[in-house]
Amino acid sequence: MTKSALDLYRKYFQERQFERLNLFQIIADRFKVQRALYAGSFVHVTPSFVFPDVVYVDNDKQAKQFFSEPEILKFIAERKIYSQEAKVTFHFADYRNGFDEMIDSFDLLISQYAGFVGQYCKRYLRTGGLLLANNSHGDAGMAAIDDAYQLLAVFYAKNEDYRISVNNLDEYFVPKPQVEITKEYLEKLPKGIGYKKTASGYLFQKVQ
Ligand SMILES: C[S@@+](CC[C@H](N)C(=O)[O-])C[C@H]1O[C@@H](n2cnc3c(N)ncnc32)[C@H](O)[C@@H]1O
Repeated sequence: MTKSALDLYRKYFQERQFERLNLFQIIADRFKVQRALYAGSFVHVTPSFVFPDVVYVDNDKQAKQFFSEPEILKFIAERKIYSQEAKVTFHFADYRNGFDEMIDSFDLLISQYAGFVGQYCKRYLRTGGLLLANNSHGDAGMAAIDDAYQLLAVFYAKNEDYRISVNNLDEYFVPKPQVEITKEYLEKLPKGIGYKKTASGYLFQKVQ
């Protein structure tokens, strides 16, 4: 292994205590997820510890180098909790332009701090599949006004300890400003808008 490959994961996710393992674990425990798609993943391979088949997409050169290292698979094999061999695929691509994966084929789409993944990659998610999004770049807010998605649950976190809640879901995504929220409006705002009630993460289901 070149020194830099795994160091990158340690630096950004382990040392910062931001692996979010427990978040993915909750989803794995409650839903049947075989295939996951993580667009804008950088080198965040934590989902592969709990989901057996994960496709990562990023247009960052460091990520490309990272995923080309055989030691990454070895690292995943050491930490994975399922019995089958881990399947890990990386596409060096701008997710907005599409990539070579079957549409309607993923059980889970992961959107974390990487723009409107839930919109651009929606077609790869099967109907009934899940979108895990946060609202750092407004992607969860976008899903909330998209008829294709329905909010299923929210996550609260204290450090790395995530809890799922399905209570009072209609209280989320009520905007603070009194403006009409449209896709066009949200697209212009890199950080999304303020909502009266927020959570650390949101789980949507693709319903159409
Ligand atoms: C802030 S990092 C977040 C990394 C990871 N999702 C996490 O939560 O730690 C955003 C990543 O998204 C990638 N990204 C942003 N826009 C992208 C695009 N259009 N296509 C592919 N990757 C993109 C960047 O290259 C970067 O690696």
